[in-house]
Amino acid sequence: MGKKVTVVGAGFYGSTTAQRLAEYDIFDTVVITDIIEGKPEGLALDLNQSRPIEGFETRVVGVTTGKNGEGYEAIEGSDVVVITAGLPRKPGMSRMDLLETNAKIVRQVSENVAKYAPNAVVIVVSNPLDEMTALAQIATQFPKNRVMGQAGMLDTARFTHFVAEALSVPVASVKTLTLGSHGDTMVPVPSRSTVDGKPLREVMPAEQIEDLVVRTRNGGAEVVALLKTGSAYFAPSAAAARMARAVATDSGEIMPVCAWVDGEYGISGVYLGVEAEIGREGVRRVIETPLDDDEIASLKAAAEAVRAKQADVANM
Ligand code: LAC
Repeated sequence: MGKKVTVVGAGFYGSTTAQRLAEYDIFDTVVITDIIEGKPEGLALDLNQSRPIEGFETRVVGVTTGKNGEGYEAIEGSDVVVITAGLPRKPGMSRMDLLETNAKIVRQVSENVAKYAPNAVVIVVSNPLDEMTALAQIATQFPKNRVMGQAGMLDTARFTHFVAEALSVPVASVKTLTLGSHGDTMVPVPSRSTVDGKPLREVMPAEQIEDLVVRTRNGGAEVVALLKTGSAYFAPSAAAARMARAVATDSGEIMPVCAWVDGEYGISGVYLGVEAEIGREGVRRVIETPLDDDEIASLKAAAEAVRAKQADVANM
């Protein structure tokens, strides 16, 4: 059987994720679903018509889903399901303002995913990210390694972009890392960041690094404020699609993702942004990377902030 990936939600994030996955040309089928009648079918038709031009054979299938799970049969056999369903932020909103609304949506979607694609690896991108990832695990009852969230790759990419732009160097020469939550307790990690192999702290003054750390933490809000309707999707979908590809190809790539942490960094029992090795089974293992004392303290603070909110979502 060929590989199959499902993207739940046909907004900008979902549709660009489906496009990237189809253009990789490694899947037999990309399924895209939405509750808006005709939208996923229309996007699928449009994407399929791009196949001769872009040169990929993957078939895109669009399905409108109903309140009681109608249409979800289409996701059967998916190796990976990316959940983008939920509302995006409006200018001035924090991701946390979406908690109650998106919890209802993510719970309902997750229950259908568990029913129709019981062996899938789930990648959550709905906000607030860390809490929605925890909720998807609770609602699917999947093993924790098979549920993860997309945030660290995106936040790391933003940090890398800002550093490259500030120094006028190619993005390929910059390596950064961002851990913690996909929110106020995000932890960009200067001690693990390099430019042409040199520590970032040797090539950039401390105040400038701090400015870029703050800009990274506000990276999503900066885009929301400019767009005025909706939130970012090009960089977010690039990150989600790479994660789905790593699962589908069992690549073993190490990526910053929102994963279940069980003892690493002295933190346990919480979904948090950490580096992890990704393969067919989802998270193969969490990688503990050496951090400065203040970075570890920030990561622990992030874990406690997320833990409090994750307890709330269990009852939503
Ligand atoms: C962002 C949203 C997608 O960070 O969380 O852009």
